[in-house]
Amino acid sequence: MPLLRIENLFLSFPHPQSAMDKKMRLERISALRGVSLSVEEGQIVALAGESGSGKTLTAYSILGLVDPPAKLDSGSILFSGQELAGMSENSLRKIRGNQISMIFQEPMTSLNPVFTIGYQIDEVLITHKKMNRRDARKKSEELLESVGITDPAMRLKQYPFELSGGMRQRVVIAMALATSPRLLIADEPTTSLDVTIQAQILNLIKDLNKNNNMAILLITHDLGIVGQLADKLAIMYAGQIMEFGNPRKILKEPAHPYTKGLLNSLPRLEGNHRLQAIPGTPPELTSIPAGCPFYPRCPEKKEECRSPVPVRKKSGSFTRCIL
Ligand SMILES: Nc1ncnc2c1ncn2[C@@H]1O[C@H](COP(=O)(O)OP(=O)(O)OP(=O)(O)O)[C@@H](O)[C@H]1O
Ligand SMILES: [Mg+2]
Repeated sequence: MPLLRIENLFLSFPHPQSAMDKKMRLERISALRGVSLSVEEGQIVALAGESGSGKTLTAYSILGLVDPPAKLDSGSILFSGQELAGMSENSLRKIRGNQISMIFQEPMTSLNPVFTIGYQIDEVLITHKKMNRRDARKKSEELLESVGITDPAMRLKQYPFELSGGMRQRVVIAMALATSPRLLIADEPTTSLDVTIQAQILNLIKDLNKNNNMAILLITHDLGIVGQLADKLAIMYAGQIMEFGNPRKILKEPAHPYTKGLLNSLPRLEGNHRLQAIPGTPPELTSIPAGCPFYPRCPEKKEECRSPVPVRKKSGSFTRCIL
């Protein structure tokens, strides 16, 4: 039984036009359309795909952060044997920020500008671990040290604006680790950082995974990161996982034409390659084609792709394509 198993998850929003026009029948549009993926204990699973494909929404669904009018319509999110989909807010609160932590896409959204770093990490420990303020401060120092921040006692007295971007990201990671979660969801943890700091943060994430046996769902659109770091890779497009499996294998021999397109559009140092962007743009949520959502842009499309596409499974991997 994997630590996290998401199966056939559907999430929808009210159609923007029908929500505004009272005369129209209220329609909903689906942003997640049958997402399935799993994370084993201690594994790093990367979730990659173009902007707007539904990566952050998948993460929010796991944490129960989907607020009305958005709604989980169906599907299952099993975490350590417990069903999270439809769980009460009270029960979710015991899991969120405790057994499952999240590093949000924008580090500044997780830090409150008017409180010191120390106060904010202490609060996590006081709330979730029921520590007193003195023990919490000692633990906060250890946490900052474990993410590579020197002179932690001094840093804890500073405000977020006094730290560099890389350091703030380390603080956010320290905060996410405060409760020793079994699953860490990291949503684009390095996008706003330069490449050297990016490498340091990724190494830090890798160490945390190894030393604490902490499972990580790493959301990224950087396929370069994935090969070195992840045990599994999920490629997402228009609210569906198109391909799931071993990252080395997928990067070497992608099975889905969308994955091939993504890889061809990556810059390479060797040879004299022209970058081949995937023609067209991802579909609007309001007009996702029936059948394979990638069909209109796919260079290998066939007539059958207009009808619902079966998922082809092979031990521990799957592809959503007829080819
Ligand atoms: N509250 C909302 N109301 C309506 N549509 C939304 C809402 N939140 C997200 N969406 C839409 O759902 C889709 C998926 O969004 P999501 O944020 O999960 O994408 P993403 O893959 O994380 O993209 P990025 O790489 O840019 O972070 C997008 O088309 C987005 O516009
Ligand atoms: Mg996102």
